[in-house]
Amino acid sequence: MDEKITVAVIEGTTRAQRESIKASRYVADFAGKLPGVEVIFVDPADFNFPGDGNDPEGKDPRYGEIVGKADAFFIVTPEYNHSFPGSLKRMLDSELELYNHKPVAFAGVSNGNWGGVRAVESLLNAVRETGLVTLSWDVYFPRVQDIFDENGMIHEDQRERYERNLGKLFDELLLFARLFKTIR
Ligand SMILES: Cc1cc2nc3c(=O)[nH]c(=O)nc-3n(C[C@H](O)[C@H](O)[C@H](O)COP(=O)(O)O)c2cc1C
Repeated sequence: MDEKITVAVIEGTTRAQRESIKASRYVADFAGKLPGVEVIFVDPADFNFPGDGNDPEGKDPRYGEIVGKADAFFIVTPEYNHSFPGSLKRMLDSELELYNHKPVAFAGVSNGNWGGVRAVESLLNAVRETGLVTLSWDVYFPRVQDIFDENGMIHEDQRERYERNLGKLFDELLLFARLFKTIR
């Protein structure tokens, strides 16, 4: 019988008026409906990382516990100055060994037409060094303000496309998660 897979869905920013939280909550809701999947929603605003690095005093043990438990990660990042937010980097940097041999998928978010593709491309470099294993494609939310309403509900004319793309990406993420779980 298949074991349950735990997916940590990570929101990429702490900005008070962030739009990307609509996309990350949508991804988390989508994943939570998949059979055999448990979702942990990770909001960097809920954690505290004093200083930089991954020394014991720079960690938040609650984040470490989630990273240890997760079999897979899904990071939803907005694009800030052609990269990803500093709060996401700070949180990712606080752990290291616990990421090893676990897959990660990405979604990019922007209020313009590029969908955060440069944020995801920058994230690839950083994440590779952590030991997380990346997939070969991503999902993008360009013009995020046109995809979700003010309550974070996806507009009906967008639903089919995002369900299809997320379905394909989660198929791949969960395949890798199950494979890697057998060798950890
Ligand atoms: C500091 C900052 C820098 C930004 N830089 C870019 C950028 O380089 N490219 C881009 O497409 N959007 C950029 N944006 C706009 C974001 O795409 C927009 O805020 C979008 O809603 C996603 O981010 P949010 O979750 O913070 O709302 C930037 C936003 C901020 C706050």
